[in-house]
Amino acid sequence: MVALNQFPSMDGDRTNDETLFGLIAQDIEKQGYSIRHGALPEGLAIDLYNQQQVLAAENFKKAGIGRGGDYLENEFVRTDAICWINGETDAGKDWLSWTAGLQSFLNRRLFLGLFSFESHFAHYSPGDYYKRHYDAFRGEANRVLSVVAYFNSGWTAADGGELVLYKDDHDKEGTKVIPLFGTLVAFLSEEFPHEVLAAKRDRHSIAGWFRVNTSVFDRVDPPL
Ligand code: OGA
Ligand code: MN
Repeated sequence: MVALNQFPSMDGDRTNDETLFGLIAQDIEKQGYSIRHGALPEGLAIDLYNQQQVLAAENFKKAGIGRGGDYLENEFVRTDAICWINGETDAGKDWLSWTAGLQSFLNRRLFLGLFSFESHFAHYSPGDYYKRHYDAFRGEANRVLSVVAYFNSGWTAADGGELVLYKDDHDKEGTKVIPLFGTLVAFLSEEFPHEVLAAKRDRHSIAGWFRVNTSVFDRVDPPL
C-alpha cells in the first residue's frame, strides 16, 4: 500500500492552510471581510519579507492609479511605491501558489467564481499614505476580492500606517488594522471603502485582487 502521507510536514502545512481558508471563508460569508493576525505561513512570510528588502533597494516604482494605458501617478491619492509580483522569484512563486490555494478553496466554499489573481509589493516610506478609495466599482468591476498581507515586525499604533476599513460610504470611524507581520486581510472589493493612514516608518505589504473573467470577444482581461 502506498503511504498516504510521505511528507508529513507538507501535509501539515496543507491542513493548516485549509483551516485558515475555512475561517476566512466564514468571515467573508458573515461580514464581507476577514482580518486574521498571524495568518500567513511563517516561512512564506519570511521569504516575502526578504524579497521586499531586495526590492526596496532597487525596483520599486512610484505607484499610479489604474493599469496599462490609464496609468497615472497621483500624489493626491497615494504616495506609496509598488512592484508587481509575476512569479519570477521563488518567494513570488510561493506566494502565487498559496493564493491559488485560497482562490480554489473560496471558489469551492463560496462559489465566488474567482478566475485570476494580480498582486504587488508596496512600500510606504515615512509620510506615505493612500487616501480613502474603493478597489472596484459596481458595474465595471471585475475585481471581486481584495487581499492585503503585512510584513512589519514590532509595529504599534504609534507607528501610524493603519489600514482603515469602512463599512460603507457613511462610516466615518471604520475598523483599524495594524500592519503587523503575518496579518492577512481580505474583503469584497466593491463593498468596502478603505484607506492607509500616513505611516511613520517604512511599511511593507502586498496588495492583491482576485478577479472574475470579463473577457469579451477580442478584448482580453486583465490588461498587462
Ligand atoms: C491598495 C490598498 C491597503 C494596505 O493597495 O489598494 O488599499 O493596507 N492597500 O496596504
Ligand atoms: Mn485598496
